[in-house]
Amino acid sequence: MKVTAVAPTNIAILKYWGKHPLWEKYHIPMKSSLSFTVDGLYTKTTVEVEKGSGKVSFTLNGREITPDMKEYEYVEDFFGKIGRLFPFVKNYDYKIVSENNFPTAAGFASSASGFAALVKAIVGAVEEFSPYRDDDRKLSALARLGSGSASRSIPREGGFVGWWRGFGPHFLKEPEAYSEEERWNIIFSSYAETLYGPDHWPELRIIYVKVKKKEKKVKSRAGMRQTVKDHPLYKDWIDYEEGQMKDTMIRLVREKRFPQLAELIMRASNNLHAMALSTYRPIIYMNETSHAIIDAIHDLNLEKGENVAAYTFDAGPNAVVFTLSQHENEVLSLLREIVGGENVFATKPGRGPYYTEEHLF
Ligand code: PMV
Repeated sequence: MKVTAVAPTNIAILKYWGKHPLWEKYHIPMKSSLSFTVDGLYTKTTVEVEKGSGKVSFTLNGREITPDMKEYEYVEDFFGKIGRLFPFVKNYDYKIVSENNFPTAAGFASSASGFAALVKAIVGAVEEFSPYRDDDRKLSALARLGSGSASRSIPREGGFVGWWRGFGPHFLKEPEAYSEEERWNIIFSSYAETLYGPDHWPELRIIYVKVKKKEKKVKSRAGMRQTVKDHPLYKDWIDYEEGQMKDTMIRLVREKRFPQLAELIMRASNNLHAMALSTYRPIIYMNETSHAIIDAIHDLNLEKGENVAAYTFDAGPNAVVFTLSQHENEVLSLLREIVGGENVFATKPGRGPYYTEEHLF
């Protein structure tokens, strides 16, 4: 059986940074996050399954993934986890071919679209998964086991998505202390869902800005673990964003109030990078060019007398800038001046994943 799925990437405006220490292996986040599904940046994955013993071969962007590569560890870890939850997974062999339509080397995260496409393709190909195929909440939690941010690329309507932390930091016991049923309920309590579809706010624009990087990358997984472990302000950040920012952001998107939302988007990005920078040892993702973009956006907003653009940054120096269609050209030329025209890509919120008959092999 051969199945091909296409899944978009997403960009968070309220960030995910940290797993519950007792539930780390299940990637249950310490707080909820919010994102927009991104039109036009996606991973396409074809999976062929046949009866076997759990062997996996994986080709990404034309390169076979071998045990010495970091992608191998991620995929192996993911198969281990879903194999424990769904033992039938081990009764098949998998041939997986995956392609991003954006260069992985550009530094745009591909794990979100990558694991979302992989989950969609696997559940489409493995017969025993058929009861789950239409259950986006379950599939979202499954994608989360591969990479946290992937959970937000699962809801098929796409658009504006909330990923809930689930039972949250109140469950104090380790997974083994719960019955199998309770554990299962907790694992699947943290999922993402569409709050407003991609057509809710047609004027919204999302601009990807590639920034050249020189520094070695600190993987988000290792970085966030250190922040959770001993950052003295981590709990305050969680409480502030979960308790105040989340609901306000959702309301501002619902009411399409860009200037106010823009301020919160920028604050949330700054807060994430402040948390990272004040982790010991410091985690530094932004560079001089990133800071130049931040300054330019604030200057533009000041000049206009209201926020017409907002930046956000993830685990790297690339910026993603939000604006509205009436300001798009002006914002684009500002960004082109800083990074060059070939490094700027404008898009908008889009739909979620889907199946296609156009297989990769
Ligand atoms: O999904 P991961 O484990 O690669 O974490 C990504 C976390 C950020 O991109 C930095 C923020 C986010 O919410 O996407």
